[in-house]
Amino acid sequence: MGKLDGKVVVITGGSSGIGNASVRLFVEEGAQVVFGDIQDELGEALAEELGPNAIYSHANVRNESEIKALIDLAVEKFGRLDCMFNNAGFPCVGGPIDETPTDGFDVSMEIQFRSVFLGMKHAAPIMKQQGSGSIISTASVAGLRTGMGGHVYSAAKAAIIHLTRTVAMELGEFNIRVNCICPGGIATAIFGKGLGLDQVKAERFKELAKMFLSGLQPINRSGLPEDIAKAALWLASEESTFVSGHPLVVDGGLIGGRMWGQNTEQWETMAKGLGIEDLEENRRKINEEIARMK
Ligand SMILES: NC(=O)c1ccc[n+]([C@@H]2O[C@H](COP(=O)([O-])OP(=O)(O)OC[C@H]3O[C@@H](n4cnc5c(N)ncnc54)[C@H](O)[C@@H]3O)[C@@H](O)[C@H]2O)c1
Repeated sequence: MGKLDGKVVVITGGSSGIGNASVRLFVEEGAQVVFGDIQDELGEALAEELGPNAIYSHANVRNESEIKALIDLAVEKFGRLDCMFNNAGFPCVGGPIDETPTDGFDVSMEIQFRSVFLGMKHAAPIMKQQGSGSIISTASVAGLRTGMGGHVYSAAKAAIIHLTRTVAMELGEFNIRVNCICPGGIATAIFGKGLGLDQVKAERFKELAKMFLSGLQPINRSGLPEDIAKAALWLASEESTFVSGHPLVVDGGLIGGRMWGQNTEQWETMAKGLGIEDLEENRRKINEEIARMK
């Protein structure tokens, strides 16, 4: 038995990365999935590989009508909508605030944030009528902390997190849960795209990104699209029916704080500055003194 048996799911940005891994896992777990993207070749190939429970349709999330059409297609083909996964995204305009193009800001907000609003807006009436549903959006740790992404990307992700909370407050009475996922560093093509590479090169760059990302968090490996797909599976499934309005952080501990090693290094540097040669011995003595205070 699959965790999503009988459930109908719509996923945006399903051709590559996190979306692709989610389409695969959701179908494996028994769901019927309609997914959209602007990378038609990749999307069509994935649908063909997965068989009749995966349908691909071109859907640019900049266009309200195309998001609505994707949802309508799911209802038309499979009769209902249990989960809307607003996942499509791209790196956004970047750089210093005084050099950020305003038109680029508008496009970035359209793709990263307005699309999530539209996904929620058009999923809600169907889910209300059903009296059930799970809306999931891909936010980011960048929406919770500074220094994890550019200004506009981070602000868009913070907006997703807050919209998730406010909409969850409205839709709860219809048994609709609204959550988002805040991934940390996940090795996908998005990093290569952020450096200006085309899709093919960005896909290849994933291996390098994996190496770079592996040392950033206490869990000593890079995040993988499957890590986020598994979190989304849980939020879409019956195992999380009391979870709503929640930004689920999946980051290997990245935003937990500074790593233990960095902390130790700092104490060692300070100790050296004070002429303390053996910090370990010093620490042992301090611990013993404190213990004697009991
Ligand atoms: N990779 C990470 O480290 C990371 C971290 C936090 C959040 N995220 C978020 O995860 C989501 C998925 O990104 P990913 O890392 O899998 O990258 P990705 O580039 O592999 O996948 C993004 C997908 O969205 C699609 N897309 C882009 N613009 C679109 C549009 N206008 N309409 C429809 N589809 C569009 C792309 O074609 C692509 O298939 C994004 O929202 C991203 O911001 C990623």
